[in-house]
Amino acid sequence: MQAIQWQNGLVTFIDQTKLPHTEEYITTSDYNVIIEAIKKLRIRGAPLIGIAAAYGVALACLELQRKKSQNYLVDLKIIIEEFKNTRPTAVNLFWALDRVAKFVSPLSDIDSVTNNIINEAIKIHTEDKLMCESIGKLGNQIVPEKANILTHCNTGALATGGEGTALAIIKYAQKAGKKINVFVDETRPLLQGARLTTWELMKAGINCTLITDNTAAFLLQQKKVDLILTGADRVTINGFAANKIGTYNLAVLAKFHNIPFYIAVPSSSIDLDIDKPEQIIIEERNPDEVRKIKDLYISPETVNVYNPSFDITPPELITGIITENNVYRYPYQPEFYKLKSSE
Ligand code: MRU
Repeated sequence: MQAIQWQNGLVTFIDQTKLPHTEEYITTSDYNVIIEAIKKLRIRGAPLIGIAAAYGVALACLELQRKKSQNYLVDLKIIIEEFKNTRPTAVNLFWALDRVAKFVSPLSDIDSVTNNIINEAIKIHTEDKLMCESIGKLGNQIVPEKANILTHCNTGALATGGEGTALAIIKYAQKAGKKINVFVDETRPLLQGARLTTWELMKAGINCTLITDNTAAFLLQQKKVDLILTGADRVTINGFAANKIGTYNLAVLAKFHNIPFYIAVPSSSIDLDIDKPEQIIIEERNPDEVRKIKDLYISPETVNVYNPSFDITPPELITGIITENNVYRYPYQPEFYKLKSSE
């Protein structure tokens, strides 16, 4: 299964809102379809959002080329802004868009802008796939021979251009012959754990057990978890990590129960320009995602709701941050600063 593919000027992606019951693929030449898909979480997960946005801009280039647009430079800049406004938290989105935007130059004609952007989008996708492989391999060193791992949200092939981040580590460990069992938080309100992670793990033949988010504390108290492993949408230069709402709960629990808590990210998820948690914009989503389950209201229809999609875990609660290059240990700033100086 590939979450997204580029072929002959068309993008094909799996509609993640239909999983786990229907494996439905959408093929499009219309960048607006990609914008809608990111907003509605048909396409989701920080690295995949970045890849999809880059391909989306490539589709826009082809459309402007077909229309022989005279105004293509202005049009493309507007379209890139539209992509930037899809979701605010994952830094991969802005990182990928900045990479393709570099080719929008008055010195180039529409044909070369288009070719360069298509090539760059494919490169972003290929690089992500390789980063997933390295994260899996490097991260395996923190997994004991027999491991009960608790994870949150979805960090697998559905969230990236390859096998995933935290899930790539789990898949690699299983392939290396380790005895793995994964506890999967259902991840309210959109249930990425229940719908997507269980689906991916079962497909990969990895033992998994679904729990409600509320069950994690009891599970840790019973000493049924050896380590907690999640992804992140944005990590600051000093190691504050924004990830799916509920991740911070797990980090606090891990500290209390003296269990390691790791985050796995490609370096494209590290925002080297910020060092304060308040600088991360936390997406707040539609209240109906909390009031309803599918089409059914489970609360009074007009009740007030607070629905942040992400929370922020402070660096001192993170045992290690695994990237394609290294397993970094607290304090993170000195090592991440070196990445900034090598930019
Ligand atoms: O709202 P989502 O489903 O896009 O949130 C995704 C997550 O929180 C993931 O943990 C994160 O993007 C890392 S994916 C490798």
